[in-house]
Amino acid sequence: MKIGVIGLGTVGFGVVEILTNEKQRLEQEIKEEVVIKYGCGLEEVDLPEGIIYTNDFHDVINDKEIDVVVELIGGINVAKEIILGAINNGKHVVTANKALLAHHGKEIFTAARENNVHIFYEASVGGGIPVLVGQKESLIANNTKEIIGILNGTTNFILTLMETENLDFNEALTIADGLGYVEANPSLDLDGIDAAHKICILAQNGFKKFIDFDKISVSGIRNVTKVDMDYAKKLGYRFKMIAQAKEVNNGIGIDVAATLVNKKELVANVMDAYNVIEIDNDYVENVIFYGKGAGRYVTASAVVSDIIKTTQKEYWNHDYQDCQNIYPITKSKYYLRCDRPIDVDYELYFTEKQDHIYITHEVELAKLTTSLGNLDYTIFKVRG
Ligand code: HSE
Repeated sequence: MKIGVIGLGTVGFGVVEILTNEKQRLEQEIKEEVVIKYGCGLEEVDLPEGIIYTNDFHDVINDKEIDVVVELIGGINVAKEIILGAINNGKHVVTANKALLAHHGKEIFTAARENNVHIFYEASVGGGIPVLVGQKESLIANNTKEIIGILNGTTNFILTLMETENLDFNEALTIADGLGYVEANPSLDLDGIDAAHKICILAQNGFKKFIDFDKISVSGIRNVTKVDMDYAKKLGYRFKMIAQAKEVNNGIGIDVAATLVNKKELVANVMDAYNVIEIDNDYVENVIFYGKGAGRYVTASAVVSDIIKTTQKEYWNHDYQDCQNIYPITKSKYYLRCDRPIDVDYELYFTEKQDHIYITHEVELAKLTTSLGNLDYTIFKVRG
């Protein structure tokens, strides 16, 4: 097997390192040679002996000897050109590119099927956690009922810091940024877009339908204040940025939102930069995937496993219909903070200083907000 790695950043180097260190064992496993022929990046870097450096991805995707193209540059346009170019040249593709697959998955998967090549993308969701292979292979006997997850490590780290160190959002963000956690475009993390890319990919594979990414309702964690964090704590809840997808009314309910999660729920206890994905299935019931969602070796682990998987005979099926109806999941319990008592069906009520806090019973959001009229209130979804 001859491999071209395009993108020599943190993960790209991790891939080169793992493939170099584990070469013998991996070759024994698949009974063939595993050779990195190219490392492609914008700037020349030191690569292990034998790997050709190039700054032109065409060298890689047009080389007849290359079997597997690994795309690790991220972003949409150039990455799409690389991936479609590689597929059309009959090469298997391994990518970590969640944004690209969330926006253009249908086109890419269709091209892969037409060209009889593999496209594997385990590293696009949950870093090194083998959740996609779990969905596509190990859970194939099941129909997915619901998927929920903490899919963004950066925001989970920020929320953990806010809670445990008693910091406000900006203080926690500064620390996360200093540790190199936050994406170059922080909005991807903070506004839930990165998590939405990932739940889009998980939902497509779970419900076997293509989802128009632009129809996903997304909000992040910028509106989580210290005040609400303190009340959540007092009431036995913890803020988490929850990505959720489930089948509803001839369509799919899917959204990303800062949510109060009951501390008794396993998901509430996933702290720091860890990710979790909980998949509810009809036969095997609840299955939980947990682990690190980012990092050089963590992500490279998934990429290398995918490279090795390209030797398998079975292609992953992505022969899905478009999902016609995509909704936010609005039937939920809600947390409400108001400056006066309100008339609402509640499970929990608490008052302190000038604040009146309610955890409602499960209710449709529109019904709840209509009943609140013009009152001033802060609202979050509640789980558990
Ligand atoms: N920014 C992402 C995260 C990186 O924090 O989870 C991994 O996809």
